[in-house]
Amino acid sequence: MTHHEYVLFDPLFDDEGAEAMVRLCERFGRYGMYSQESVESEIGEGLTQRHDAVMNYVRLGGRHGRHDSVDRLAARTNYFREEYAYGTEPLIDGVEPFLFHEGFVDAARKIHDRPVIEPAIVFANLMVPGQELALHTDVPEFRGANRKVHPQWLLVAMRHSGLFEDWRMLIATGVAWFHDCKGGEFAFYPDGPDGDAVAHEVTYNTALLVDTDSVFHGVDPIDLPTGDLPPLKPGMHLAFDGDERWSVRKGDEVVAGYGWDELRFSISWKAYCFVDEAERDAWKSHTDDLDLEWTIARLVDDLRERGRIEGETPPSGELAEMIIDEYIKFPATP
Ligand SMILES: [Fe+2]
Repeated sequence: MTHHEYVLFDPLFDDEGAEAMVRLCERFGRYGMYSQESVESEIGEGLTQRHDAVMNYVRLGGRHGRHDSVDRLAARTNYFREEYAYGTEPLIDGVEPFLFHEGFVDAARKIHDRPVIEPAIVFANLMVPGQELALHTDVPEFRGANRKVHPQWLLVAMRHSGLFEDWRMLIATGVAWFHDCKGGEFAFYPDGPDGDAVAHEVTYNTALLVDTDSVFHGVDPIDLPTGDLPPLKPGMHLAFDGDERWSVRKGDEVVAGYGWDELRFSISWKAYCFVDEAERDAWKSHTDDLDLEWTIARLVDDLRERGRIEGETPPSGELAEMIIDEYIKFPATP
């Protein structure tokens, strides 16, 4: 069984440092809704970007086997997200201690056994009561193949196929929490999809660093003690109203109001992990890039070897579903 090493931070910062991240979140103030767009690509046109995770969720109803209508499912899984840094550039003052956190850098070196660590992005996720995040692995990146040029489900399948590891950019992801939250545990499978899940409770000033491109993970439902989810729709945003209060808004109109303690707030850090400067330079100068046509041909060859394709190659939509089905083996949930 594959074991993926991970690192727990408890605490991540001193109290002052942790408090500063909460204030930074408030100061940022406005968080747009992150929702799925469909793919325009020569393969699998019309599928959603994360067709893999969506189909698995619809099939199994999440980690706790809950089934629902597609509308409610979208409302439950379209959370709020904004970037705090891109590459090594802060997009808001005060994110530097998080962006360059030495503990994260050391842990990234450790889990991938690679010395050259380059921060790629810092972003915040905010979720409201009743929301959750379907089991998935993150969208990986390969030299010449990333979410700007390839559909996301394809990149995920490429990772799980193991056929393109020579081009893969190893990425470490740190996820940190700066308040206590009821429900919304970060559930992950460090021993692979056949192993047991570890559910990390969301607690003040803790963090985990995991290879989330390889380890399946998700967010369990956040407690919804009364009422129902508001009718969350793409285009809405979450705004800080001061005095510990937040609201979901459609333009200026308030759709729902929450106290800080009802939300789930996390900040993610991702960094590239290189063997040496030469590898980093090959990435920056595109001297050893994959191309889409060759990638698909390699997958089709492998599907033939596995006996999945006999005779003609199926049309693009069918091929896309076959690739997802063959390579992405989700944890078995109830
Ligand atoms: Fe993720």
